[in-house]
Amino acid sequence: MGYKQYLKRNLPSLFYCLKYINHILNIDQGRGKIVFLKDLIKYRSAIKNKQVYYGPLFYAGDVDSVKRQVMEQFIKREVKENFKLIEIGSWQGASAILWGNACKKRGVVFCVEHFDIWESMPKKYWVFLESRKSRELFFHNIKSAGLKNTVLPLIGKSEIIIPILKQGYFDVVYIDGDHAYESCLKDIQNSIPLLKDGGVICGDDLNMQLNEVEYEITWANRDIDGTIIDTKSSHAYHPGVTLAVNKIFGPVSVKNTFWAMRKTGNTWEKIQL
Ligand SMILES: C[S@@+](CC[C@H](N)C(=O)[O-])C[C@H]1O[C@@H](n2cnc3c(N)ncnc32)[C@H](O)[C@@H]1O
Repeated sequence: MGYKQYLKRNLPSLFYCLKYINHILNIDQGRGKIVFLKDLIKYRSAIKNKQVYYGPLFYAGDVDSVKRQVMEQFIKREVKENFKLIEIGSWQGASAILWGNACKKRGVVFCVEHFDIWESMPKKYWVFLESRKSRELFFHNIKSAGLKNTVLPLIGKSEIIIPILKQGYFDVVYIDGDHAYESCLKDIQNSIPLLKDGGVICGDDLNMQLNEVEYEITWANRDIDGTIIDTKSSHAYHPGVTLAVNKIFGPVSVKNTFWAMRKTGNTWEKIQL
């Protein structure tokens, strides 16, 4: 059989085979076609050489550089001997590694992460989570970053784990789990008793505060984990986070979507970010 004939006969199955591999590896179709080989090689080499992997394969993203600066400056100011930080939502460990590097040998970072599908989660991530690749990559990244004695995973749902932890024990609580309103609100409410007096509660993805957006549209979209576009500014924001943070604190300190408030007795104070 000539190659033209071979291709004609096998092209459909080759195409479906590629689509299937993309599906298993959970690469979205648009980017997958371009990044597939390059990123597969990068991923395999990181696993083999015990290096941290971030990249489009498996949606393993690092903390973006602008936000990283804010978070690093914040943690540098807060960290002290016997420091204890608890994070809700760790994905492949990017923020856990940032916190862990800042308090290595001086404290501990606890990571509450279920490595499971959650209701409001975009469906494109499901295959990845079902394959347990997410959990494997998290452990690989923490170990490769040299933080296995600093970053301690608590595997399970935040709504179950957070309420059974010791109250008044933590210096910082960082919230970056399910971004839908009810879940985010519950994570904030359940975490507050864990904080020491003078401790800080903070979180990710507060793109806009409630006074900057249209309330009705925000409320109507409260159940989504992702973002919507603000009609006035054309900025994307997470309606669930915007509503939940406002419900508990009103306006908060925020810089590059990283928000924070300090507990002082029975009140909350804004902090310099
Ligand atoms: C935005 S990602 C976290 C990103 C991570 N902080 C980072 O910077 O790399 C949200 C994470 O929250 C986790 N999550 C969602 N709902 C959860 C729940 N109820 N309990 C524990 N983890 C949850 C998801 O599995 C996901 O890994």
